[in-house]
Amino acid sequence: MNIIILAAGKGTRMKSALPKVLHPVAGRSMLSHVLESAGKLSAQPPIVVLGHGAAEVQASFTAGTYRTVLQAEQLGTGHAVMQAVPLCADSAVSLVMYGDVPLIQTETLKQLAALANANTLALLTARAADPMAYGRIVRQAGQVRAIVEFKDASPEQRLIDEVNTGFMALPTAWMKTALPRLQNNNKNGEYYLTDLVALAVADGLSVVTPQPLPPQNKEWEGVNDRVDLEAREREYQVRLATELMRQGVHIIDRSRIDIRGTLTAESEVRIDVGSVFEGEVHLARGVKIGPHCLLKNVQVGEGTVIEAFSHLDGARIGADNKIGPFARLRPGAKLASGVHIGNFTEVKNAELGENSKANHLTYIGDATIGARVNVGAGTITCNYDGVNKHHTVIEDEAFIGSDTQLIAPVRVGRGATLAAGTTLSKDAPADMLTITRAEQKSVKWKRPVKKTVA
Ligand code: UD1
Ligand code: CA
Repeated sequence: MNIIILAAGKGTRMKSALPKVLHPVAGRSMLSHVLESAGKLSAQPPIVVLGHGAAEVQASFTAGTYRTVLQAEQLGTGHAVMQAVPLCADSAVSLVMYGDVPLIQTETLKQLAALANANTLALLTARAADPMAYGRIVRQAGQVRAIVEFKDASPEQRLIDEVNTGFMALPTAWMKTALPRLQNNNKNGEYYLTDLVALAVADGLSVVTPQPLPPQNKEWEGVNDRVDLEAREREYQVRLATELMRQGVHIIDRSRIDIRGTLTAESEVRIDVGSVFEGEVHLARGVKIGPHCLLKNVQVGEGTVIEAFSHLDGARIGADNKIGPFARLRPGAKLASGVHIGNFTEVKNAELGENSKANHLTYIGDATIGARVNVGAGTITCNYDGVNKHHTVIEDEAFIGSDTQLIAPVRVGRGATLAAGTTLSKDAPADMLTITRAEQKSVKWKRPVKKTVA
């Protein structure tokens, strides 16, 4: 199959310097979504018709994922397809897609393409609750005769609620004879691809349509402005969330979840409102995600609870952890099972062993912490001397008193206790209490009183 993706338009109404097809849906460009659907249809790389921002579009994709042709001037959708003609094999069917329609499903396109052959043009149409400015499908005795663009349509034709989605599968050899016959004597002065339908009828080809897509099916709708972009984003998010719900994930509200990558989840997982998932995220059985969290490239182990407003990036979290609220895990955080990371605790490039806890206001960076360690409130690993990073080791069952600074490189032995307020600059031996504190004393003292002005 020759797949032709039209992507030369300017997208003026986006009011953006970014070429329209590079605007993201679910964190990646609309064109990448379209290429993904196309890739499942044919082994042949699709032909993308570029125009506005061609260099920028090309630069954003790996070479070889598609072929490109340039439409230097945007003279209409028919003219755009004409640019792809030299790359189209005559014997195969050609399928026309749009680069700004990111939600189109491979299955829909497969059914459409299967209807086309050497003598048959297949057209994807939709019933629209509000047909707006879409092209109208003109039928006679049930047979498609033509597509009339809204601007060129009569008042009666404008009442037609069956519209052109823009997706068309057609015999290539015939297409090559028909495209040069297109005229631009219409309201827009453009060479309309849609005029091929009347030409096909005149040439004795059959024009067929699958069942028109129902009004609630929006997969064919494109993006002309940022309002459309938001609508497609939400439809796509609802689609992803619905798939997860069908797999058994408890999502509290489909309209308040954002997945920008791949989210996989096992059974009994619950996701509260307002969270964003980026990159590759895996949630094992029974994981609970509280409201308004960000999880990016994170694996979460069985039974772990992530409380509200936690920001987790590049972390591996074991089973039965309790994270947050307001926790921050940065790349290289690796937590064994039963770990607790509480509010305003930041962990970076550090391992915590089984059942260790850092519940309040703490920074753990570049550290190896053993099992059953208690890190008191306000503890800081001083890992940076202004030039280099250094490592802290805390062995099993150590107890770190509140407001402790560990000046790395430093080691706390197994079972050691650091008194509150310790500034640890040498290793602390196992099983002993280490304390760095000026002795407490009490002196007689009279509080000053406020002077009265006469
Ligand atoms: C088109 C159809 C209309 C259909 C609608 C569905 C035509 C004439 N009309 O209208 O029947 O209901 O889509 O969304 O085909 N493009 C180019 N080069 C050009 C012109 C357009 O590459 O010279 C690309 C655009 O970037 C866009 C796509 O083709 O991706 C569609 O063009 P657009 O101008 O948006 O067509 P519509 O007016 O929406
Ligand atoms: Ca459009």
